[in-house]
Amino acid sequence: MESEHNPIKIFSGSANKPLAEKVAAFLGVPLGQAEISRFPDGEIKLRIAENVRGLNVYVVQPTNAPAENLMELLILIDALKRASANSITAVIPFFGYARQDRKLRSREPISAKLVANLITVAGADRVVAVDLHAAQIQGFFDIPADNLTAMVQFAQYIEQKGLEDPVVLSPDVGGVARASTFSQRIHASQALFVKKRLSPDAVEIQSLIGDVKGRDVIIADDAIHTGNTMLNACNRVLEEGARSVIACATHAVFAGDSLSLFARSKFSEVIVTDTLYMAGREFPAMFTVLSVSELIAKAIYSIHNHSSVSALFQA
Ligand code: R5P
Repeated sequence: MESEHNPIKIFSGSANKPLAEKVAAFLGVPLGQAEISRFPDGEIKLRIAENVRGLNVYVVQPTNAPAENLMELLILIDALKRASANSITAVIPFFGYARQDRKLRSREPISAKLVANLITVAGADRVVAVDLHAAQIQGFFDIPADNLTAMVQFAQYIEQKGLEDPVVLSPDVGGVARASTFSQRIHASQALFVKKRLSPDAVEIQSLIGDVKGRDVIIADDAIHTGNTMLNACNRVLEEGARSVIACATHAVFAGDSLSLFARSKFSEVIVTDTLYMAGREFPAMFTVLSVSELIAKAIYSIHNHSSVSALFQA
C-alpha cells in the first residue's frame, strides 16, 4: 500500500508493539526506528534513530495505565516534532484516562480533556482513536480526531454465525449509538440496560428495555475493565430468559484477576480486540481476539492519501 514518493512512516511506543508491527506489515512498510530505554532512575529516554524531516509520521501507542504509556507517546511526539516531521498523527488504539470525561461531582477533574490537551501541546497534528469511551471526546481536541470503531468488525464476525433473530444489547445508555452501529449491520433488534455505577468496581443493572426472551443476546461495549458491567449484564439477560449470551468489547483491559471471572461465566463466547497488549496474558478458550490492525492501517492509508475515513464503516 506504500507510496514511493510520499512514504508512510509508522513509529511505535512500547505499549503495543505487536499491533504496530501488524499495521506496518499491512501497509507494507517497516516500523520506524526509535530507541526507547530508561535512565537509571526509571525516566523514559528516547531517540528517533532515522531521518523523518518532511515526512508524515504516524505514532501507534495506546495510553492505558500505567501513565508511562501516555508519557512515552508525548515524548515520541516531541522528538518527532523536533526532528522536523511534516505532520504527526497520534494513533491511539485505546485512549486511556477517558472515563472522567465530565464533572459528575464537585472537585472532580476532566482527565480526558487534560490528556487531549497534553497530546495537542506535545505537537500532534491529528489523532486517530478506536471506540473512544464517549464519542464527544473527539471535541476535546482542537485538531482533527477520527474515532474508528471495531463494531463493524464484530458485526462481520457475528454474521458468519448465522444466528436466528439475535439482539444487540448495550449495557448502558452511553453505549446505545455504538450498539446501533452493530445491530444495524446484522439487521438485529436492540435492547438496553439502564445501569447505575455504584463505585469503580461495582455496578447495578436497574432495568431492561427491549426483548431478550428466547433470543441470542450480544452485549456490545467499548471496554471491559473490572468485568462487572458485562458479568452482571450476562446474568441478568439469562434471568430474563435469553437463549445464549455473547460479549463483544473493543478494549480488553481486564483489571486485576477479572479475566478468570469470565472463564467461569455463562458467556458462550467473549470477543475482544488487540487494541491493548499485556505481555504474557493468556485468554481462556472461550475468547476470540480480532485484530484492529487492518482497520487502523486502512485509516492511516486514507488519511495519508486524503481520502475518506468514514468510508471504512460503510456497508
Ligand atoms: C462504561 O461506561 C463503559 O462503557 C464500560 O461499560 C465500562 O468501562 C466497563 O467497566 P467494568 O468492566 O469495570 O464494568
